Amino acid sequence: MFDGIAPSYDRLNHLMSLGVDRLWRRKAVKELVDGTVQKILDVACGTGDSTIELAKRAGLGSTVIGVDISAGMMEPLMRKAAKAGVHDRIHLKVADGCDLPYADGTFHAVTCSFGIRNFEDKAKGLREFLRVLKPGGKMVILELSVPDGRRLRRLYNIYFMHIMPWIGGLVSGNKEAYRYLPASVQTFPAPEKFCTMIKDSGFRSVRFRTLTLGLCRMYIAEK
Ligand SMILES: C[S@@+](CC[C@H](N)C(=O)[O-])C[C@H]1O[C@@H](n2cnc3c(N)ncnc32)[C@H](O)[C@@H]1O
Repeated sequence: MFDGIAPSYDRLNHLMSLGVDRLWRRKAVKELVDGTVQKILDVACGTGDSTIELAKRAGLGSTVIGVDISAGMMEPLMRKAAKAGVHDRIHLKVADGCDLPYADGTFHAVTCSFGIRNFEDKAKGLREFLRVLKPGGKMVILELSVPDGRRLRRLYNIYFMHIMPWIGGLVSGNKEAYRYLPASVQTFPAPEKFCTMIKDSGFRSVRFRTLTLGLCRMYIAEK
C-alpha cells in the first residue's frame, strides 16, 4: 500500500495537515536530539521528512539511519536529503520495525513518526526499539490521534472519514489507502493505554504530550 501511494505522499501529507505536520516533526526532533554526536534510528522513516530534520539538528559526525519496510516510500529520501545538504549523515535500509537488523544497544536515540500505527504487532516493535537503544537512550514516537473535545471530534470525524479519503483518492488514485488511514487512527490505543504498552515493553520515564488539540501525540520514554 505504501509503495503505491509513495509518489503523492509528501504532497498529500502537507496538504491534508495544512502543513502542521512539519511543526510536529520539528518538536519531536527537538525533544530527541541534543546536538551532541549521536547515532539515531528513524524507524518507518518513509519519505524522510523526519529523517532530514534529525540530520539537520544532529551534531557534525552524527549518523541517522532510516529504516522502512517499503523501498518505494524511501525512494525520494536521498534526493531530498541532498537538497537539504545532509545526505552524508543519512543511511537507509529496507527493514521491518519489528525485526531490526541491528545489535543490542546500537543507538543513542530511536524515533518513529506516524509509523507504529501500521505495525501488526506494536508491542513487538516497542521491544525492538528498546533492544537497539543504548542504556539511557531516548525514544520519541509521533502518532496521529483522535482529538479530545467532543465538538472537535465530530468535525474531525467528518473530515477524516469523508473529506480526506475523497481528497486522498483524487490525488493518489488510491481511495482505499486513505480509508485505511482514519481507520488505523481510530483503532490505535488511547494515549494512556499506549503509555502503559510502552512501560510494559520495558521503558522508563514514559510520558506523552498533546499537540494541536490532540490531533497528534508525542510519546517520550527512556531505556
Ligand atoms: C504514514 S507513513 C510515515 C512515514 C514517515 N515516518 C513520516 O513521518 O512521514 C508510515 C510508514 O510506515 C512504514 N511501515 C509500516 N509498517 C512498517 C514496519 N513493520 N516496519 C517498518 N516500516 C513500516 C510504511 O512503509 C510507511 O513508510
